[in-house]
Amino acid sequence: MASAATRFPQPGPAPIVETSWTAKDLLDTDTLSLAEINLILDQAGAMKDVRQRQGKLATLRGVAVVTLFYEQSTRTRASFEMAAKLLGADVVNLTASGSSVEKGETLIDTVRTLEAIGADLLVIRHGSSGAPYLAARNTSAGVINAGDGAHAHPTQALLDAFTLRENLGDLKGRRVAIVGDVLHSRVARSNIWALTALGCSVILCGPATLIPRTLEDGTEEGRYMVTDSIEEALDGADAVMALRMQRERQESGLIPSLRAYVRDYQVNSARLALARPGAIVMHPGPMNEGIEIAQDVAHGITSTIEEQVANGVAVRMAILYHMALARQRR
Ligand code: CP
Repeated sequence: MASAATRFPQPGPAPIVETSWTAKDLLDTDTLSLAEINLILDQAGAMKDVRQRQGKLATLRGVAVVTLFYEQSTRTRASFEMAAKLLGADVVNLTASGSSVEKGETLIDTVRTLEAIGADLLVIRHGSSGAPYLAARNTSAGVINAGDGAHAHPTQALLDAFTLRENLGDLKGRRVAIVGDVLHSRVARSNIWALTALGCSVILCGPATLIPRTLEDGTEEGRYMVTDSIEEALDGADAVMALRMQRERQESGLIPSLRAYVRDYQVNSARLALARPGAIVMHPGPMNEGIEIAQDVAHGITSTIEEQVANGVAVRMAILYHMALARQRR
């Protein structure tokens, strides 16, 4: 078999932003420098542009990308596959169901097996927080966290930042309200680190039972604010991000009822009127329309929800591209 260095192509046509990415893995946004975040966002802009002009590229010809999903996904899985194919990579998609995981194979054995068959980059979603970290320690392939338990979802946060930047320009001083079930949200956590690094003022809002204590402590550092008042959170916001209310939370007694949650925390047009005129509305998906977000707001004129999904492809192209180049240089 050819060595990784000979199998990898040299950087291909047009979409190149000078790379300073060296990390083997992308596990969360909390370890990314501002320069690394901006590198991915700039590269995503170039990818979006070149995709519109040229369509499919051959930049990652010879690179093998494996998506390994232990948990359900529509957006993340499909956009990683699309991104890898648009860059000319070879793509293998695996889900836990139907693989040897069902016969009891461990995560470590699975990633070592995938490395042995030639995987260069592994995109992993897992229901347990920390699983992609364990995988990364046990393979020389680059590991991208596609969502682990309630812990982190760095590629979602980067596509959210990209969408915010496209709509609002420079994010320094922009007020972003994140509303809902923060406690169980890997999206909220990764967004906090990415958006505060970019200079946003982040306000986390939800019932006290759905805000983790650890985040309440973090407000002392002044990186973000926490409130249980949605009116306070949305007041003057440049962007409002609703989080999915996981219905099983009601059964676990964390909220009195879905009806009460809708009454007190739904992002609806009356509440959106408290935000800046033209404030954008975001949601990572999948949505429970009529629960955490009103239908007219979800599909309203300032909604960027479909834009977020579309931008996910460009952002993931940028991530795959820089991680593949970093692997080539190792
Ligand atoms: N936002 C997100 O991660 O969606 P999927 O679960 O559909 O990938």
